Amino acid sequence: MLVTRVLDIRASDITDERLYLGRREFLAAAAAPAAALVAGAAPLRAADGQDAPPPPRKGFVTTGEAVTPWADATGYTNYYEFGMAKADPSRNAASFVPRPWTVTIDGLVSAPRRYDLDDLLAPHPLEERIYRMRCVEGWSMVIPWTGFPLKDLIQRAGPLGSARFVEFTALDDPRRMPGQRVNVLDWPYVEGLRLDEALHPLTILATGMYGRALPNQNGAPLRLVVPWKYGFKSIKAVVRIRLVARQPATSWGKASPREYGFYANVNPGVPHPRWTQAHERRLGESGRRPTLLFNGYGDQVASLYSGLDLKRHY
Ligand code: MTE
Repeated sequence: MLVTRVLDIRASDITDERLYLGRREFLAAAAAPAAALVAGAAPLRAADGQDAPPPPRKGFVTTGEAVTPWADATGYTNYYEFGMAKADPSRNAASFVPRPWTVTIDGLVSAPRRYDLDDLLAPHPLEERIYRMRCVEGWSMVIPWTGFPLKDLIQRAGPLGSARFVEFTALDDPRRMPGQRVNVLDWPYVEGLRLDEALHPLTILATGMYGRALPNQNGAPLRLVVPWKYGFKSIKAVVRIRLVARQPATSWGKASPREYGFYANVNPGVPHPRWTQAHERRLGESGRRPTLLFNGYGDQVASLYSGLDLKRHY
């Protein structure tokens, strides 16, 4: 398992190109073992056997903790469109073909557009981001994502002054997603962020992980990753990103509003009705570790919530 030195960073570091350049070699070193973990002698092959995308051109690491084994990150998943048990998505999504794929960006933007995925991705350099991921159910992982800041895409679309939230919608296709034939959630899966959360530099759209194309069960071909929030905010198989004026409904919020708030910031001080949030089980480790406020990203995101009662707005 990869163990690297701790390199927690501040928000001010993120945009500082000089700091980033200084870390490039470290990142390359950190990323390579992560990819090697999964692929052994033949790294960087996509799941479908095609060549994986080119290596990320830049990025940064937010934790020196051990990267979760590939088998756990891809075999223990939550993706109700492909079944409710943790092992279901890897089996049931095996034949899913995430192409062709279109993503619509619309709502309160000056340049609404429906993109073919390749056109959407073309202008965005991919970065590696090694993030903690904490599920509301009390388990966690450390995953090396490949992606790009959502902010860059939103800015291309030209947000209007009246936009305050972003609504995300996943694919709705029960023919290809067998879990959608069961009414466990109100399909399609929808999620939302405040606009300032969506524009935060830690928020990315991911197209890969562990140096490979995103596996189907992890949300191919495009998913959101918001590392300071519980995992259910990080919607998989995104087909629509809509800027809106009012707080959008979310799938889990509709299913059980008392259990799943809109904010869903990782917070050890606010227990879920069914699970303590004080500690977590890190996949690949024994025992439990304490859960960190904002999943350890407080120095970068806490200012988004100054004045907000985190116990009430959970
Ligand atoms: N996105 C969609 N479309 N459908 C889902 O069921 N589950 C969420 C989130 N994104 C889910 C989803 C939950 S509950 C979690 S914890 C994370 O995905 C899990 O991501 P992972 O399986 O890649 O670890």
